[in-house]
Amino acid sequence: MVHFYRNPLLLLSALVSNALLPAIADANQDVFSLQQPSGAPPPKTLPLRRIEWGQLNFISTTDTHGWLAGHLLQPSYAADWGDYTSFIEHIKETADEKGVDVIVVDDGDQHDGNGLSDATFPTGEVSQKILMMAPIDLMSIGNHELYQCEVTQQTYDMVAPHFDGRYLTSNVEIMLSNGSWVHIGQRSYRFTTKHQGINIMSFGFLFDFKLNCNNSRVSEVEDVVQQAWFQSAIREPGIDMFLVFGHYPIRFWPEMWAIHRAIRAVHKSIPIQYFGGHSHVRDFTVLDSRASALQAGRFLETVGWLSIEGIEPGKSEDSPDYAKPLKYSRRYLDFNPYSLSFHANKTLGPDGTFGTENGKAISKIIDNYRQELNLTYPFGCVPTDYLLEKAKYPGPNSLLSLMEDHVLQNLISDDKTLHGNSRLIFINSGSLRYDMYGGIFTVDSGYIVSPFDNAWLHIPSVPYSIAKKILAKLNALDHIFMELTTPISRTMTVRQQNLGDTFDINVMNSLLSTMSGPDDQEDLKTTGYVTIDDYGMDGDDTPHKPYPLYYLPNAITTEDAFPSDGSEPDRVDVVFLDFMKPFLLDALARIDSSTPMEEWKILEYGGKPVKELIKDYVRGWGTECLKDTR
Ligand SMILES: *[C@@H]1O[C@H](CO)[C@@H](O)[C@H](O)[C@H]1NC(C)=O
Ligand SMILES: *[C@@H]1O[C@H](CO)[C@@H](O)[C@H](O)[C@H]1NC(C)=O
Ligand SMILES: *[C@@H]1O[C@H](CO)[C@@H](O)[C@H](O)[C@H]1NC(C)=O
Ligand SMILES: *[C@@H]1O[C@H](CO)[C@@H](O)[C@H](O)[C@H]1NC(C)=O
Ligand SMILES: [Zn+2]
Ligand SMILES: [Zn+2]
Repeated sequence: MVHFYRNPLLLLSALVSNALLPAIADANQDVFSLQQPSGAPPPKTLPLRRIEWGQLNFISTTDTHGWLAGHLLQPSYAADWGDYTSFIEHIKETADEKGVDVIVVDDGDQHDGNGLSDATFPTGEVSQKILMMAPIDLMSIGNHELYQCEVTQQTYDMVAPHFDGRYLTSNVEIMLSNGSWVHIGQRSYRFTTKHQGINIMSFGFLFDFKLNCNNSRVSEVEDVVQQAWFQSAIREPGIDMFLVFGHYPIRFWPEMWAIHRAIRAVHKSIPIQYFGGHSHVRDFTVLDSRASALQAGRFLETVGWLSIEGIEPGKSEDSPDYAKPLKYSRRYLDFNPYSLSFHANKTLGPDGTFGTENGKAISKIIDNYRQELNLTYPFGCVPTDYLLEKAKYPGPNSLLSLMEDHVLQNLISDDKTLHGNSRLIFINSGSLRYDMYGGIFTVDSGYIVSPFDNAWLHIPSVPYSIAKKILAKLNALDHIFMELTTPISRTMTVRQQNLGDTFDINVMNSLLSTMSGPDDQEDLKTTGYVTIDDYGMDGDDTPHKPYPLYYLPNAITTEDAFPSDGSEPDRVDVVFLDFMKPFLLDALARIDSSTPMEEWKILEYGGKPVKELIKDYVRGWGTECLKDTR
C-alpha cells in the first residue's frame, strides 16, 4: 500500500510536458488585468473553463493544516480563507438562483503545517476559530486532530459544538474527564437539500489510525460498518442518497471500500458520494455507475468541485428504471483569487464584486492574528527557491543541498572538547517539511519549512572506514524512515498524480491522444499539479506544466573539519538527529556486525535544532528585499 513511485513519476513528467491542452471554452482575458487585493501579481495562466453545475454540487477542502492565510510566496495558491468564504457565499447564491443545491465539506487535518495553527498551544487555538468562520456545512476529523490530547479536547469543546450535529466522527470517540467515552461529533447526520429535496444520510469516517493520544479511540472502519447503529442508519426509510466523507484516501486504501461494500449490501444502486483526504493528492475515483469519490489535495492549494446530475429524490429503488448511471463533473480549482473570482463570476480589485463583507472581514482577522502571533517577523530574504521533491538533488535549487553545503556545518556542540574534530553530520530529509520559496522568510516560514524540535546526538571517534558507509545504509532503508519522522508526510506528495500501482504507459498514451488544443499556449502554463484520475486528465482547472518530482534520499550528510590536504580522517564524530538513533544503530550493525550495539557510545551533542540553524543562515542573507515593498 505504501510505495515510493520512482520511475513512473519521472516518466510522467516527461510525458505530460508534451501533452496538449484540453479544449478551452468561455475564455475571459479581461480577468487577467485585474489586480489582486493582496498586491501579488495574478498568476500568469491560461483562461479557465466555467465549472459545470449539476443538480447537486459540492465544494470541498481537505488537509488544510493551518494554511488559512494562503501561500504568500506562491501566486497559484495565494487566496486566503476570507477569499474562500467569499467564494462559498457567491456559489451558494448562484445555486439559489439556479434552484440547485450546494454542500460544502471539509475532511479534516486542520492542525500542523503552518504558523497560524502551530504558533499557539494547543495548536489551532486561533486557526480553528478562523476556520469556523467560513460557511462550511459538514466537517470531519483528521489524524492531526488526534496526536495531542489537548487538540482532541479542543476539537470536542470548540469545533464539534459549532457545527451543531454536522461535525461527524462516525468511528472516533473521546474520553471525558469522568471516564465516559463519547463520540467527538455525531456519528451520522440526515438532512434534506433545500432546492432539490434530496434526502441525504451522511457519515464522517477516519481511516484506521493508531498513533492517537490516549484520550481518543479510533474504531476500525470494517468493524464500525457492522455495528447495529450503522446497520440501522443505512436501513432508515426514505433515504435518496448517501454522503460519506472524511479522512481516508480514496485510492489503494481499504477503508472506503469497506463502507461501500456495507452500503451496497443493502442498497444495490442508491447514489453514494464519497469525499476523502489524508494522502494529500488530487484524485477522483469511480466505484460504480452511481458512486464516486473526490479528494481535494492539501494545504489549501486546491478547492474540489463536484457536481452530480441524475439523482431522483423520492423514487423507489425498486422502480424498473431506477439505476441509470449518474453524470458527474469534477474539477480541482487552484486556490488563488483569480480562479475563485472567475468561478464565482465576480471581479477582483478594490471596487470588485468578489470580496464579500464576511470574506473581507476574515482576511483582515487573519492579517491581524499573523501580526499578533509575530508570524510576519522577517529573518531574511531567500534569494531563490530551495525545493524538496521539486528540485534535483544535489543541485542549486535543492533545499537538501543548501543544508548539506551551507547550513549543517554551522552546528556547534555544547561540548567544547569536540570543536574542531572531523565530523559527519546526518539529518533525515523528513526533518524538512515544505519547500523554502524565494522571498521573505518569516517566523511563519520557519513553522512551514522545519517546525520540529530536535536534539543532536553523537558517537565520538568512529573509525572513518565505518562512518563513511552509514549514509548508503540509511538510504537503503525504505521510505518508512521519512514517514515516521514527520506526521505531515511529505512522501505523500511524491504519490501525487495517483499513478502508482495502476500506472500503465498504454493508458497514458491513449489519454494523451484524446486531448487536443493549441500547442503554442504551452508556455503560458504555470507549473503545478497535473492530475490523472479515473476520468482522465482534464480535472485540473488551471492547465499546468507538471511539477518535476525527484527522488529524495532518506538522509544526507555533511563532512566537516576534514583534513585540509584532502586525505581521509582516521576517525570522525558521527553527529545525528535524536530521531535517527534506531536507524543509525541499525546501519552500524549492518556495516560492522562484530561490534555489539551497546558498545557504540551515544552521547548528547547539544547545539541548535535544525529549524534554528536555518533561521540563522537566512539572517545572513539580509533583509534587502523588504525595502522593495515599503
Ligand atoms: C460523564 O459526563 C457526561 C457528560 O457530562 C455524562 O453524560 C455521563 O453520564 C458521565 N458519565 C459518568 C459515568 O458519570
Ligand atoms: C494517558 O497518557 C498519559 C501520559 O501521556 C498518562 O498520564 C495517563 O495516565 C494516560 N491515561 C490513560 C487513561 O491511560
Ligand atoms: C456573469 O455575470 C454577469 C453579470 O454580472 C452575467 O451577465 C453573466 O451571464 C454571468 N455569467 C455566467 C457564466 O454566469
Ligand atoms: C518575534 O520573533 C522574533 C524571532 O523569533 C523575535 O526576535 C522577536 O522578539 C519577536 N517579537 C515579538 C513581539 O514577540
Ligand atoms: Zn494531512
Ligand atoms: Zn491525515
